Amino acid sequence: MDFERVLRARHSYRAFRDQAIPTETLKMIVNQAQLTPSWANAQPWEVVIATGTTLTKIRAVFQRRTAQGVAGSSDLEVAHRTNWASAPRRNMATWNNDLSRYLAEATVGVQAYGTSQLSLFNSPALVYIVVPGPVNAWEIFDTGAFAQTLMLSAANQGIQSIPAYEIVKYPDELRRILNLDGSKKILMGVALGYANEAVINGFRTRRVATADILTIRD
Ligand SMILES: Cc1cc2nc3c(=O)[nH]c(=O)nc-3n(C[C@H](O)[C@H](O)[C@H](O)COP(=O)(O)O)c2cc1C
Repeated sequence: MDFERVLRARHSYRAFRDQAIPTETLKMIVNQAQLTPSWANAQPWEVVIATGTTLTKIRAVFQRRTAQGVAGSSDLEVAHRTNWASAPRRNMATWNNDLSRYLAEATVGVQAYGTSQLSLFNSPALVYIVVPGPVNAWEIFDTGAFAQTLMLSAANQGIQSIPAYEIVKYPDELRRILNLDGSKKILMGVALGYANEAVINGFRTRRVATADILTIRD
């Protein structure tokens, strides 16, 4: 696929078909993501992919915790809305409004969003990006870039994705199920799969005008 098409093929998809991704494809996606640049080539990432019964266990525990009302507590601290600067806050509000309007007009309502989260998007493969602690800020930069390369590689192979807090919000449970010791920080998760026809998958986000975020000084 040419680059522009790959780039535009990636969106966040929130409902996947019951279809496994071949192991060789998962390996190739991670192998391509390893081409990501990092601080002094530190390559701080480790990748753990949950599929099959491991993923079933994660889904069950996450659903139980959510039903019990246990608040999420990811390894990377979540900043409250009011601690974001005004421009990103405005963008988040726009996203929220756009999503609510889209779901209302499609007559499925906002609960379609909650259902997608609770099912962990029905993904057949949850990719966890793990860094041995202590984690420094540049490693967060590096793993973010790694995640994007991984999602673009997936898109290039006809596989859809979503990076999601929702799949990393109970990291202690994940460490237990994935057999990771406490020194391993789960920085982020990306759900992969083949998108189904669910209404929520038709939602598209917008971006601010480039002129609003770009300054070229000569
Ligand atoms: C760090 C991060 C966490 C996210 N967490 C969630 C999540 O928990 N649930 C969800 O539905 N989407 C989540 N998203 C997806 C964003 O909402 C999405 O990337 C954004 O709205 C832009 O839309 P796009 O990915 O379709 O371009 C997350 C994205 C990022 C980068």
